[in-house]
Amino acid sequence: MKALLLAGGLGTRLRPLTENLPKPMAPIANRPWLEHLIIHLREQGVDQFIMAAHHYPDVIRRHFGDGRRWGVKIEYSLEPFPMGTAGAIKNAERFLDERFLVVNADIVHLPQLVPLLDFHRQHGGIATIALTEVEDPSSYGVVEQDDSGRILRFVEKPRREEAPSNRINAGLYIFEPEVMRYIPAQREVSIERETFPRLIEEGAGVYGMVSNGYWRDMGTPARYRQVHWDVLNRRFPLLMHGRQIQPDVWAGEDVEFGAGVLLVPPVLIGNKVKVGDQTVIGPYAVIGDNCYIGAHVHCSNSILWDRSVVRDNSRLSNSIFGYRTVAPAGEVFNNSIINQPGEVMRA
Ligand code: GTP
Repeated sequence: MKALLLAGGLGTRLRPLTENLPKPMAPIANRPWLEHLIIHLREQGVDQFIMAAHHYPDVIRRHFGDGRRWGVKIEYSLEPFPMGTAGAIKNAERFLDERFLVVNADIVHLPQLVPLLDFHRQHGGIATIALTEVEDPSSYGVVEQDDSGRILRFVEKPRREEAPSNRINAGLYIFEPEVMRYIPAQREVSIERETFPRLIEEGAGVYGMVSNGYWRDMGTPARYRQVHWDVLNRRFPLLMHGRQIQPDVWAGEDVEFGAGVLLVPPVLIGNKVKVGDQTVIGPYAVIGDNCYIGAHVHCSNSILWDRSVVRDNSRLSNSIFGYRTVAPAGEVFNNSIINQPGEVMRA
């Protein structure tokens, strides 16, 4: 089966981390989220991927190439301008002549595809939308369904007490290729605002089914951080690269700790990391591969992407450093999100 991965958004809410990479390439637990997603979908039987990309597509291509290393085939559908979540599907029409899957590549969710595909075959409509149940649906598009699962309408951002359900679009769809007839070409088209309402209005058969399990959109710094804390807490059972060196502390290969280093769980440390004397890491810290952390540093509630450097006596809390960010000695970073590769950053 083929999956079209929507990875072309600008990711404005996650800036500056997305200033030089597509949001789905942001690492979760030290690997690009897109890599976790492709591996999961491969295990669910997807062997061909089309990457719908626009913003820094070469970052994706450099990492995955043709997908051979992951045992899948990856092709690229590049957009001359951001064509929106349905425009991107139309733009990839030449790749999609059979039933296909579409996945918002920035949603952190490891869906089970078989029940969704069975349901899709049974109802015989043009589309199946995977749904997720949220406690407070008031900031989402909520679905109203009949007993067969058919979606009657979407209610955008309803007041909590007026919401017809607590089921929202989980950002994963199964489509019949006929859907292309409903999407205009060569312009920006939103699947939520334009295509689904049109398919419902024309009676093409749009159905929804709940996809259980962890679900979160990583589109803002707070949510991006929360996904990490959920991984560390094992509320989201993502594969950890590394071994557990003490309860709830995972570390990769070639990690060197100086004298008196304190690791306060939960913590995840990548490969080839050096930590100086008397440094305290955690609670809640994710340190990428090839990072260097000096002596007498305190780092908690923070995420460092690969090759970051934190020099002696610095303090980090609630902060995120993009690839190769360098923090000078003796600086305090609180609630800082910095993405300036190679530059020495002051708080
Ligand atoms: P914000 O700018 O912060 O809203 O992020 P975003 O641009 O990524 O938008 P949003 O979170 O709504 O996008 C949901 C998913 O669709 C993400 O995986 C995006 O990469 C993808 N997406 C959004 N717009 C486009 C587009 O124009 N083309 C393609 N190919 N994908 C898109």
